[in-house]
Amino acid sequence: MKALVLSGGAGTRLRPITHTSAKQLVPVANKAVLFYGLESIADAGITEVGLVVGDTAEEIQEAVGDGSKFGLEITYIPQERPLGLAHAVLIARDFLGDDDFVMYLGDNFIVGGITGLVEEFRTSRPDAQILLTHVADPRAFGVAELGPAGQVIGLEEKPERPKSDLALVGVYLFTPAVHEAVRAIAPSWRGELEITHAIQHLLDSGADVRSTVIHGYWKDTGNVVDMLEVNRTVLETMERRIDGEVDEASETVGRVVVERGARVIGSRIVGPVVIGSGTVVTDSYVGPFTSVAENCRIKDSELEFSIVLRDSSIDGVGRIENSLIGRHVEVTPAPSVPSAHRLVLGDHSTVQIHT
Ligand code: TTP
Repeated sequence: MKALVLSGGAGTRLRPITHTSAKQLVPVANKAVLFYGLESIADAGITEVGLVVGDTAEEIQEAVGDGSKFGLEITYIPQERPLGLAHAVLIARDFLGDDDFVMYLGDNFIVGGITGLVEEFRTSRPDAQILLTHVADPRAFGVAELGPAGQVIGLEEKPERPKSDLALVGVYLFTPAVHEAVRAIAPSWRGELEITHAIQHLLDSGADVRSTVIHGYWKDTGNVVDMLEVNRTVLETMERRIDGEVDEASETVGRVVVERGARVIGSRIVGPVVIGSGTVVTDSYVGPFTSVAENCRIKDSELEFSIVLRDSSIDGVGRIENSLIGRHVEVTPAPSVPSAHRLVLGDHSTVQIHT
């Protein structure tokens, strides 16, 4: 069995972060989202992985390398444009050969991994198996309709009137039967080859498509709110570990990780929090569910329920909450006169100013 991991895409919902970097590499508890997925594939006993990459190929390749650090053998599969999940299967044909495979969306996060699911598929081996979860608003997802015995009857992509509240989760298991299906379908109104259409094609041709409803935790980290939520969940599972320096005037409460090479000076850190190596926190408060990546400077500020990417500085600005702050960002106070906000913001930035 092989794995096909999708790490291309446009990432429009995570702009402006995705103008300059891959959304699959945004860190959750200071580790790239994609790495959690690759680890769960390795845990399921799969070693051969095809990694579909787009515009951010170079950055992903630099982070993942040949896969050996995960115990994987990675083959990179360039996709010229994000032409859909089924398109990714189409271009991976040579890599996949006649093997069964798990398709994993590189920006999805599944607590508890996929080992049980892969085992189930290996044992029962239907033509395809999908993962479903109950969601509050199914209109934003691929939605499945199930029959009385729980069999999959039909699938719809982002339906206006959903037939159930069961959304497809970003992990799919396929036999080689899917190759004929991805060749048979036409692009949707949004110009993409939809995997839901390919699975519907399998159903129409009488294939056995099964589903598993997961009750564990799943999130698509495609937008900022979900990203912060996944960060919170992962931080909650961490153990306290202080490998860096914390001075006498500082206090660390609960599950706090201070990585080697990080320094906390005259500050109060209330976990769960992770402070990356090379980061210095001075005269500040860092509150629950916050990840600060490597080589940041936090000074005279308060930070809570946020993710700060590496090489950024936050100095003398009061309190920041519910925020995703990119790399090499500087947040500083304005001169006192005139009383005006001075901003240099990238395209598609979102700023909420307290007036
Ligand atoms: P999506 O989140 O569905 O699409 P996107 O990355 O274009 O993001 P947005 O909606 O914010 O514009 O993609 C799911 C995953 O699959 C993600 O890791 C990107 C990847 N992907 C590809 O590799 N190729 C593709 O053609 C598409 C559509 C997605």
